[in-house]
Amino acid sequence: MSERADILIVGAGLAGLFLALRLAPRKCTVICPAPIGQAASSTWAQGGLAAALSPDDSPEDHARDTVLAGDGLVDPVTAQLIAEAGPKRVRDLIALGVPFDRTPEGALALSLEAAHSKPRVARVAGDLAGKAIMEAIAAAVNAAEHIEIRDGLKAVSLLTGKKGQVAGILAENSDGETAPIHARETVFCTGGSGGLFRVTTNPRESRGDAIAMAYEVGALLSDLEFIQFHPTAIDIDRDPAPLATEALRGEGARLINKDGTLFMPRHDPEGELAPRDRVARAVHIEALSDRKAFLDTRETIGDEIEHHFPTVFATCMSGGIDPRIAPIPVAPAAHYHMGGIVTDLWGRTTLKGLSACGECSSTGAHGANRLASNSLLEAVVYAARIADRLRDSDLPEFDLDAEGHAPEALDDETLQALRAEMAVSCGVVRSEDSLSNLSEWLDAKMTAYAEADIPRALVVSDLIVKSALRRTESRGGHFRSDFPTAAAKAERTFLYKHGVAPVFIDTPDQTLSEKVSA
Ligand code: SIN
Repeated sequence: MSERADILIVGAGLAGLFLALRLAPRKCTVICPAPIGQAASSTWAQGGLAAALSPDDSPEDHARDTVLAGDGLVDPVTAQLIAEAGPKRVRDLIALGVPFDRTPEGALALSLEAAHSKPRVARVAGDLAGKAIMEAIAAAVNAAEHIEIRDGLKAVSLLTGKKGQVAGILAENSDGETAPIHARETVFCTGGSGGLFRVTTNPRESRGDAIAMAYEVGALLSDLEFIQFHPTAIDIDRDPAPLATEALRGEGARLINKDGTLFMPRHDPEGELAPRDRVARAVHIEALSDRKAFLDTRETIGDEIEHHFPTVFATCMSGGIDPRIAPIPVAPAAHYHMGGIVTDLWGRTTLKGLSACGECSSTGAHGANRLASNSLLEAVVYAARIADRLRDSDLPEFDLDAEGHAPEALDDETLQALRAEMAVSCGVVRSEDSLSNLSEWLDAKMTAYAEADIPRALVVSDLIVKSALRRTESRGGHFRSDFPTAAAKAERTFLYKHGVAPVFIDTPDQTLSEKVSA
């Protein structure tokens, strides 16, 4: 007999676990491939959570910075919504026991990160925010009677009923056996897509599978071409690449070449704290040249790095670099997917029975370039909103006839080739030539499968590349060497599956946020 879950949460990062906690007392089931807290990119977040918490800050200022960083594509309603809810959600995390750093006077200590007009990032022990937040949440989840955790399972397909509504998932266990889990509401909280790129700060398993699963059954997707590359992954040949948090630059760390020259002034008047996409492009150019790129913390942070940024310090030391006496080699790495499954202000996708939260969703909060440390914020704000919507709602009955189909898994050799191709041809700098060649490469790989069996990683890569080809301008995280400037009008990309191919539309007939507020 198949299994049933009233509310099924797929993924156990911050979005999934915060949602599960907030649903109390309504019962829910969380599935995740690894024990909770492991294999979730939230745990690796170093900077922290952005919120207007200081007396000289305001949600309006935070929303304005979010809109400006997003380069014309942030939905201002969404930006205001997450900025306004931020301080409340930070207080929730404090109540759960998250030991945010304090000033000697007892106020929250706030870090400055790129494109924030003021220090706004609540942090823990310098660079341990993600780990501390996830530990506190995991402890609360383990003690919560309304939450059932099923680890060792991953979603490989959505189950859909006769009217196209989502009615659960096909789950795969670690032996590769699949079985349906029927649900009255399914919530994807699965993280991002960085694992599709050769150099990434994400867990390798984060390969946009949820986007491909939702696409397969007709959900509206958006802005898939917008990948954020973090400028300063530590370049010590590790996969995934460890991060050197932007807060280091907030504390004065400088970007230099191997001869010690500061290089940001040549690229950008805003220097090290320019929006992340611009710093990433500068680091990309320098790292590819024989001048190379390094982050120098010696003068401004010095020996303090050991205690103020323990993760970065330990990583560097384990890679044979002592950042107290040597600069840290850096390169850009795929870090965050701004695009994803379209949701409204309550986390509803365009499919009945399916919600999405966190990095796999596209709420309109991040536009073309996410403001630093807004992702943990968006995850908790939307998780709380989804919980408020579902907690007492009367959900449809189980549809035990709903079906799903698992495509084939991608063999490791092709996956590694795909990651290399995506990094080179759809990375920090793209062009018609590089994207068209990659598109042909993907076509050749995909034609080896029946349509329903094409591995998820190929499907989602193909959608990213097609979206990047269509955007003949440069904006935020999407830089085209053949179209280096922004078009006069900023327009989002929307697409869905029609037959066997994506259909791109300019704007949904009515934006989902308008629908909700109507
Ligand atoms: C960082 O600490 O630099 C990353 C923070 C983020 O990606 O929001």
